[in-house]
Amino acid sequence: MNDMDKIKNRIKNLATEYLRDIISVRRHLHKFPELSFEEHNTSEFISAYLSELVIPHKRGIAKTGIVGLIEGRSGKGKVVALRADMDALPVREQNEVEYKSAHDGIMHACGHDVHMAGLMGAARILNEMKDDFGGIVKLIFQPSEETYPGGAKVMIEEGVLENPKPDVIIGQHVYPDLKSGHIGMKGGNYMASTDEIYLRVTGKGGHAATPFKNIDPVLTASHILVALQQVVSRNANPGIPTVLSFGRFIADGRTNVIPDTARLDGIMRTFDEQWRSEMKQKITRMAKGIAEGMGAHCEVVIDPGYPVLHNDENLTQRVMGYARDLLGDECVHEIEARTTAEDFAYLARAIPGCFYRLGVNPPDSTTAPNLHTSTFNVDESSLHTAMSMMAWTAIHEMKLTV
Ligand code: NI
Repeated sequence: MNDMDKIKNRIKNLATEYLRDIISVRRHLHKFPELSFEEHNTSEFISAYLSELVIPHKRGIAKTGIVGLIEGRSGKGKVVALRADMDALPVREQNEVEYKSAHDGIMHACGHDVHMAGLMGAARILNEMKDDFGGIVKLIFQPSEETYPGGAKVMIEEGVLENPKPDVIIGQHVYPDLKSGHIGMKGGNYMASTDEIYLRVTGKGGHAATPFKNIDPVLTASHILVALQQVVSRNANPGIPTVLSFGRFIADGRTNVIPDTARLDGIMRTFDEQWRSEMKQKITRMAKGIAEGMGAHCEVVIDPGYPVLHNDENLTQRVMGYARDLLGDECVHEIEARTTAEDFAYLARAIPGCFYRLGVNPPDSTTAPNLHTSTFNVDESSLHTAMSMMAWTAIHEMKLTV
């Protein structure tokens, strides 16, 4: 048995030994969820756990964020950052479990409880195995993934990627489409950029029976709504997935009253930063031009959201290799790009990053409740994979420069 095989077995055994503890950690976090940038008790709880393990850490980064360091004892090595997000969602939990959310109307419906518990388990394993590696593990507990501007950006501004600067960063996210024990990932552009679009069309209201006396903002906005679909079908490169959706169209007139204004609110998502900025210009020009042509006026506001999440190709290939070795080939999957967004994107833009998906669906289940629903839950044996995969990846990556 070579050294890495010994390390692998040690990690697996420790994960098995700690699983019960990490499940209770996850249940505690699940029971007491907190919203974005309000993760005070969550932060307190994580800090107490790290203190008990005598892992040095700093609190109060981006309000409730925590950064911990585990230094290896043997020789030199890279700095590897491991990140977990901390916030819950404004969802009322409907699961009847003993650890059901005690905070009415707030729920860990996106699995961030699993991410935190998984990282705490990985920290416990790595701390126990300090003699087996050189290098430094940087633990990043990040607040507010769900709400723009997101905690990642704020943490970067507050220096989370300095002193020491990580060589790579790894993140994981629960994934109901895969069974527990499985993971999936994709190199390159993996998750979408997101922007919010607010169009306000101003015309001239009046009696609906005398349209020639009005400038109809409802019809103008309708033309804009239909025309903008061509940005996706005619302007977007078919190789770059692009979404443009308007979920809100408000024209508050009456059957016989044309209103003065109409509003269209929507989102755009895509996978290429250059196209993203071109798309914003096209939307603005088209909406204004159509309104102008119809004698109306269109005000365009586009609020920027998270950038494209780019998984470093080389790093992702390596992580895939570690995963195959740890979990077996049949448990590691190449997955498709997703049109959801994630603020890990900021971290992965600053340094090479890999954000992979952790299967959480029970082995005997055929249907999995979706993320962000009131019945979302996980098979807790996935925490074994969550902590062992993080620890195993960190040890491999730290060794690379030795
Ligand atoms: Ni999430």
